[in-house]
Amino acid sequence: MNSATPLLEVRNLSRYFGAVHALDNCSLVVRPGEVVALAGDNGAGKTTMIKAISGVYPPTSGEILIEGKPVTFSSPQDAREKGIETIYQDLALADNLTIGANIFLGREPMKKLFGFLPVIDRKAMAEAARATMAQLDFHVKRLDAPVSNFSGGQRQAVAIGRAVYWNARILIMDEPTAALGVPEQRKVVALIKSLKAQGRGVIFISHNLQDIFAVSDRIVVLRRGIVAGERQISETTHEEVVKLMIGG
Ligand SMILES: Nc1ncnc2c1ncn2[C@@H]1O[C@H](COP(=O)(O)OP(=O)(O)O)[C@@H](O)[C@H]1O
Ligand SMILES: [Mg+2]
Repeated sequence: MNSATPLLEVRNLSRYFGAVHALDNCSLVVRPGEVVALAGDNGAGKTTMIKAISGVYPPTSGEILIEGKPVTFSSPQDAREKGIETIYQDLALADNLTIGANIFLGREPMKKLFGFLPVIDRKAMAEAARATMAQLDFHVKRLDAPVSNFSGGQRQAVAIGRAVYWNARILIMDEPTAALGVPEQRKVVALIKSLKAQGRGVIFISHNLQDIFAVSDRIVVLRRGIVAGERQISETTHEEVVKLMIGG
């Protein structure tokens, strides 16, 4: 792959809901190893943008390119097959199951008992869980515990682990640090940094400017359905970002 080719490019994307222009001609690029924050006030169009990218809402117009190739998604499954995994706030984990079982939910590895009876290969799931979480620098002590035993940050890590195991090249996270305490927010920030180090692309929605500045390379600010501005994090300030968000 040419490293100059963006992993993801959104070109002039619009999405209307009847008379509501949720997104109007918005463009966005994510390069390998880049963390892009998507910010904006309530109703700015952030969720609509990630839903368009993840195959939930087909765009009204505009283009989505993955590694330079135009794609059309008619379902989240289509987007997943192209390497886009979206982690929503609810994380979609099955609380009563282990990390391994959550990683493989609906796609369990099978083995043959007595050479003929297909059963779920729990050992393979546990080993994949251990290896995947270690790759994220997250060393799990209890592979047999249900994820309901875990803290918010650990659960976020499991959701990220699932995306990584299935080889997501672009991870989209909606408010991953909301509802977490400060030490847990730090863990999630560290996880995002390890995704970046692996050359994956991350889009990260947040209201928390501190987290955005801690982890992002670039910020795209939406305001009432348009891109109000885009900045390198190293070249902007909290004040400037707030101004872009509220306009004026
Ligand atoms: N399914 C929908 N039907 C009608 N309007 C919608 C729908 N989804 C979002 N909108 C509207 O689109 C605009 C952008 O919403 P949204 O993308 O959820 O913003 P954000 O995530 O930044 O808060 C809002 O005006 C919202 O009311
Ligand atoms: Mg939203």
